[in-house]
Amino acid sequence: MTPDQNAIDAEMAAVRPDGGIHPRRGYGPYRSSALRHPRQPLVVVEDPESVELTGPVFGVSDVTDLDADLTRRHLGEPLGERITVSGRVLDREGRPVTGQLVEIWQANASGRYAHQRDQHPAPLDPNFSGVGRCLTDDRGGYRFTTVKPGAYPWRNHRNAWRPAHIHFSLFGRAFAQRLVTQMYFPGDPLHAHDPILRSVTDGSARDRLVASYVHELSEPEVSLGYRWDIVLDGPSATWAEKGEPR
Ligand SMILES: [Fe+2]
Repeated sequence: MTPDQNAIDAEMAAVRPDGGIHPRRGYGPYRSSALRHPRQPLVVVEDPESVELTGPVFGVSDVTDLDADLTRRHLGEPLGERITVSGRVLDREGRPVTGQLVEIWQANASGRYAHQRDQHPAPLDPNFSGVGRCLTDDRGGYRFTTVKPGAYPWRNHRNAWRPAHIHFSLFGRAFAQRLVTQMYFPGDPLHAHDPILRSVTDGSARDRLVASYVHELSEPEVSLGYRWDIVLDGPSATWAEKGEPR
């Protein structure tokens, strides 16, 4: 029988925090997490540089200012509440991580992705694709203009709804360093019921996935401002050779 939200909430409450700041590979209440992690020991890459030879590359000129404004990618204006999302990418010492490719993807204001796998009955927006990217500046700063994504249903359990969120990818300095995560919005009542957010069992680590509303970042007559800083591990730890963080 498909569990309801109360059953999933009870499962999440029964999971003891493990002190880790990253989601567990397998987190029971997030049903498909069992299918999304390796079951075999990881393969040790003896020569990381050889892997990089086949990784994707991009040039600075490939990324334009227009890529960071998701509201200007089509002839018309997308529906929804305009928001500005900005922050800094920092290392463990608080130093800016510059020149990093930051990519985002998100649902539209109605909670629907422009993707063939998303067929739930919310309207697509012909003026919103939901993808953007930019490079961090000299202060490690990034900035996107977009619309606030809507919550959307998923089939983890009966009446399962994802809180509004924006997916983020940080490319790193080499393909094997790519980091993928999600940013959430403050005050969302769905946070407590979301097995994906709750798969990060450390409460303070979960809080760091939630952006702050910052009035100074709001642009008059245009958008509401949210700040979300991304703190990586130290500069030597981002390169994990032989699975041992340094
Ligand atoms: Fe999503």
